[in-house]
Amino acid sequence: MRRWVIPAAAMIWAGAFAASADPYVWPLPAWMPPPPVPADNPMSAAKVELGRHLFYDARLSRDGTVACASCHVQARAFTDGRATAIGIDGITGAKNAPGLANAGYSPVLTWANPHMSSLEFQALVPLFGESPEEMGSVGREEEIFARLAADPYYAAAVPAAFPDHPAPDLFTITRALGAFQRSLISVDSPYDRFKYWGEADAISDAAKRGEDLFFDHPFECYHCHQGILFTDNLQTARTAQPEVGFHNTGLYDPYPAALPGLIEITGRPEDAGRFRTPSLRNVAVTAPYMHDGSIPDLRGVLAHYANAGRAPGHPMKDGLIAGFTITEAQIDDIIAFLESLTDEGFLTNPATSDPWPEGHAARAHRMMPPDIEN
Ligand code: HEC
Ligand code: HEC
Repeated sequence: MRRWVIPAAAMIWAGAFAASADPYVWPLPAWMPPPPVPADNPMSAAKVELGRHLFYDARLSRDGTVACASCHVQARAFTDGRATAIGIDGITGAKNAPGLANAGYSPVLTWANPHMSSLEFQALVPLFGESPEEMGSVGREEEIFARLAADPYYAAAVPAAFPDHPAPDLFTITRALGAFQRSLISVDSPYDRFKYWGEADAISDAAKRGEDLFFDHPFECYHCHQGILFTDNLQTARTAQPEVGFHNTGLYDPYPAALPGLIEITGRPEDAGRFRTPSLRNVAVTAPYMHDGSIPDLRGVLAHYANAGRAPGHPMKDGLIAGFTITEAQIDDIIAFLESLTDEGFLTNPATSDPWPEGHAARAHRMMPPDIEN
């Protein structure tokens, strides 16, 4: 029987063609520009799908027990419900796992590192970081790449997404994870339907009153939690200059030496206790709150702001955290407004959920937070 022998060069073309015939379509309304995409990691549907499999795959960790999804759970807008994250061997870190909704729009990632600006680079921290150890894969790179290469899914999916780099390695894994995380877009909450689609009844009267309070004196929330994502950290494909905002909200005085804030990186005294303003999209499902998860619920957050901070005397505290008097009814209204930012479709979107079948090696030993089914 005659067989076609396809030269390697032609296969690369076939792959390249497949990639370009496979454009990625952003799940975005016309009023929202996409996030910026690095020139060396263009989006494609194949790459996003590969990244999704990697994100949920516990075999990326040393002993096959920790996936990105172990700490970033979709139903919680990709947080874990814990005050501080727990990684491999049950090692507890000092920081709260932030949500990943709209992560591609954030010019700086993590709580207090102004240099952490790329999703591709950030993925190296959980994979190979040692303080704290999250997935424990440092020094095991080749073993982990071989483990993935032996899975028939990756044997097909990596070349489909990266025709020029057909093996699971740092290049392909970090880029696929970056592309997947850029696809985690959440702009379809009841508040969006009210605000941008003109659906007057999409949110309750309490939420409408809460919106007014949020954007008014003396509460001042909107100065830092501003714009479309309710944070002063924003970049889009159309942004010339990214916005970056870190603030000291008076949580501690002094801040603990282990988590001193932006000052840890910059060394500037004025950066003591400054942390990045988190987006408030889906905030009702991302408790507990703050960089160390030290406030259990939204009422606690409002009490913190009403008191001008839990430690009101910190000399570097932002001037906008000045304290205010608030009634129980106003607290209920602001919380109703914050709840209207929950995008149920995002929390259940099949396109970003666990793709692995039950019992598959990718998830058989995967640890999840105690009340989340693996
Ligand atoms: C053990 C729990 C844990 C695991 C596993 C984990 N993360 Fe995280 N993640 C965290 C914590 C905690 C932070 C905050 C770190 C900081 O601020 O320094 C974080 C921060 C992030 C951020 C920054 C988000 C933002 O808005 O600032 C991204 C992106 C991210 N993780 C992606 C991943 C990916 C991709 C993986 C898998 C390769 C992963 N994480 C695995 C706990 C975890
Ligand atoms: C001066 C800027 C600033 C103002 C004003 C401000 N915030 Fe914040 N907010 C922040 C920063 C920064 C953090 C994170 C602080 C930390 O973790 O140390 C934060 C955290 C939060 C969180 C926790 C989010 C999470 O994912 O952990 C909520 C909820 C919140 N703010 C709501 C509000 C509300 C409601 C108001 C108005 C009453 C308000 N904020 C006013 C900057 C601000």
